[in-house]
Order: sequence, then structure tokens, then C-alpha cells
Amino acid sequence: MSAGPVAVVTGAASGIGAALARACAARGMALALADVEAGPLAEVAESLRGNGSRVLECAIDVADGDAVAAFATAVRAEFGRVGLACLNAGVVGPRLPVWEQRPEDWRWVLSVNLGGVVNGLTAFIPGLMKQGSGHVLVTASTAALNPVHGGGNGPYAASKHAVLGLCETLREDLGAAGHPVGVSVLCPGPVATRIRDAARNRPDAAGEPRSPSPSFENTITTIDADTAAARALAGVDAGRFLVLTNPGSETEAGARFARLERDLVVE
Ligand SMILES: NC(=O)c1ccc[n+]([C@@H]2O[C@H](COP(=O)([O-])OP(=O)(O)OC[C@H]3O[C@@H](n4cnc5c(N)ncnc54)[C@H](O)[C@@H]3O)[C@@H](O)[C@H]2O)c1
Repeated sequence: MSAGPVAVVTGAASGIGAALARACAARGMALALADVEAGPLAEVAESLRGNGSRVLECAIDVADGDAVAAFATAVRAEFGRVGLACLNAGVVGPRLPVWEQRPEDWRWVLSVNLGGVVNGLTAFIPGLMKQGSGHVLVTASTAALNPVHGGGNGPYAASKHAVLGLCETLREDLGAAGHPVGVSVLCPGPVATRIRDAARNRPDAAGEPRSPSPSFENTITTIDADTAAARALAGVDAGRFLVLTNPGSETEAGARFARLERDLVVE
């Protein structure tokens, strides 16, 4: 990994983000952690400090660009260089057909899953370019590679596809400008986390959740968050752009790309 001694993790209070923080701490990295849930974030930070890690924590909403910029400033002031920036915070909205998703459903999911990543890249990439090193690991999903079986996941799929396209473009931009900053997109399949209870963080302005917690029929085996984080860091170590964590997801994605490829014909 082209990582220095400091890892930034957003969405660090739970699930994959907390596991990424633990995995980076186990490598001896200092942590800069952000999450919208202050209490759980403080608990994660305390437990890492108890194990000897240096931790900066910030309770912020990643959809708030000014707050993310202030977080990046605080990280630079505290630690200087950043080795690995994990832009991981994300939510999933009600599981409904595309035509039943309301504007506030779209706004919430896109503002966190896409807007949060845009804000993180805007805040952290210039510092990585300046220091001439570092790596960005953006959490997308297998929903960036193929639709969830049975549908009902439009805003989430759109946000994760957008993140993948954004990161491919970022990689091109960095390469064209000669900046040695790595980019990886994490595409987990099902991971046992609190994602199905994402509505706990839905701001009032986004409206009341309108469906039960989303459930996804999946042919891919669920893994635990620590396994996902270990595979994420292994993918970064290997210099992969796409980082998959769940066996079987490569087959599903391959089948989707093969389906699309059949239509790569100019009529
Ligand atoms: N769990 C899965 O099956 C799965 C699969 C593929 C991708 N993902 C992605 O993994 C990432 C992490 O999700 P998870 O599964 O660990 O879920 P989780 O709910 O356990 O953790 C997500 C964390 O993000 C935080 N968060 C939510 N909105 C935020 C905001 N506006 N600002 C800052 N923090 C915010 C939450 O408080 C929580 O701590 C997400 O991007 C999700 O889309 C999860």
C-alpha cells in the first residue's frame, strides 16, 4: 500500500468503516475518523485509543461540504500527511420501484453516497497531490457493477454507479497530471452491518422512511465487516482499482458486463 502512517475513514462509527479503522490501526496507522453519529463514533475512537492508536474524531455529515473541508483541515493540522483516505460513509433508501422513489429519497441517498464522496475527494485530493503520495479508497458496492436482484434500489444503484464513474475519471485525471496518488473502489457484496437500518441517519428534511428496512435477496454469501476490511486493504496493497470482497460477486458482475457487451453494436 502506498499508505503513510495516517488513515482517514468516513462512516467510521459502524460496519465496514469501523472495521477499516480497526484494520488500519492494526497496521500501526493513526486514525482520523468521521461519522454523523457522534456517540458511536466516540466509542469506536475510545476503543482504538485503548489499544494504543492515535485517533482524531469528528462528528460531521459528509453531505456538508464545508464540514468535510473543515475535517480535512483538522486532519492536516493534527497529522500532516495522509496515507489512506477511505471515503466510506453511505446509506440505502426505501426499497421501492424507481417510479415510487420521491425527490427526497433521491436527494438523501445521492447527497450522502455521491455528494459525500465528492466532498471527500475535493477536501483530501489536493493534499495528497501536494505530498506526492497516498491512496483513496472509495466504498461503492456490487450495486456499482450489477443491479440488485429484484430491483427496487434505483437511487442506491445510481449513486454507486456514479461513484465508480467518478473514480475512474479521477484516476485518469491524476494520471494525466502525473500525480502518484492511488485510487481504488471497494465493491462489497452483502456485509453484516447496520446498513439496513440506514434510515436512523435520515435527516428530517429527507422525510419519513416509507418502507421496511430494505432487504436484498442475494445469491452471494454475506461476510463480516472485518473480513470485508481485510480484503479491502489487501486490494489496495495489490494496487487494484476495483476491490471485490465477496466470492461470487465477480461472476455476477462478469455476467452483467457480458450482457451489456452483447449490445455494443452500432445499428
Ligand atoms: N453492508 C453491506 O452489505 C454493503 C454492501 C455494499 C456496500 N456497502 C457500503 O458500505 C459503506 C458502509 O456501510 P455499512 O454497511 O458499514 O453500513 P453501516 O450503517 O453499518 O455504517 C455506515 C456508517 O455511515 C455513517 N453515515 C451515514 N450517513 C452519514 C453521513 N451523512 N455523514 C457521515 N456519516 C454517515 C453511519 O452513521 C454509519 O456509522 C456504505 O457506503 C455502503 O453503501 C455496504
